[in-house]
Amino acid sequence: MSAPDASTRVIAVDGPSGSGKSTVARGLADALDLDVLDTGAMYRAVTLAALRARAPLGDEDACAKVARNAQVEVEGGVTKLDGRDVSDEIRGPEVTAAVSFVSAHPAVRKVLVDRQRDWVKRHDGGVVEGRDIGTVVFPAAPVKVFLTASDDERARRRQRDETAAARDVDVDAVREALARRDHLDSSRATSPLRMADDAMEIDTTKRSVGDVVEEIVQRFRSGTKEA
Ligand code: DC
Repeated sequence: MSAPDASTRVIAVDGPSGSGKSTVARGLADALDLDVLDTGAMYRAVTLAALRARAPLGDEDACAKVARNAQVEVEGGVTKLDGRDVSDEIRGPEVTAAVSFVSAHPAVRKVLVDRQRDWVKRHDGGVVEGRDIGTVVFPAAPVKVFLTASDDERARRRQRDETAAARDVDVDAVREALARRDHLDSSRATSPLRMADDAMEIDTTKRSVGDVVEEIVQRFRSGTKEA
């Protein structure tokens, strides 16, 4: 019998920033004994590499070259760029402001999508979170989730993350930055943020993490897609 395709053990978790992807992905991974891949961290690490190399962010070839040469590892909540831990730096304001430009380039996406598929093969499946996981990276994933939350709740969560990282920003500035990034991520020509037709859409605004995780775990265990 041939080995099952690793993508049969993928849970695709997509949604905008602040919708709860990382928290829900970790809960799913714990419940199902799978590893998590944060693909946003990969785009952020490549963006940091591009900023450090002073590559023009609008130059697709220059950014793709940076992506090809960057050694990016994302494991267990730690992101390394060329062997160094950059987990905090990639969440800083410079990278956050630039990442939507770098991630819009198709040639950059191709480099990272190939690495994401390799990662899943090596890990025999996993919970993969991002923007295009259910639509482009793993269109055959058995369970696809698209998380949403109200704009106010998303801004509140992001502000909490910023405060925890000792960065002081007001909630209106966070809300504006989120709206800008949502617009760029949803309107780009290649792999825009979009819900897959067969995804479960879950509004996390007023729900506990445990409750959301349980709903997805049940779907995964029943081995069915949205009817
Ligand atoms: O999830 P995040 O906020 O860390 O993602 C950072 C950026 O990376 C986001 O603004 C869009 C981009 N991204 C993407 O284009 N495709 C993905 N699969 C994940 C993230």
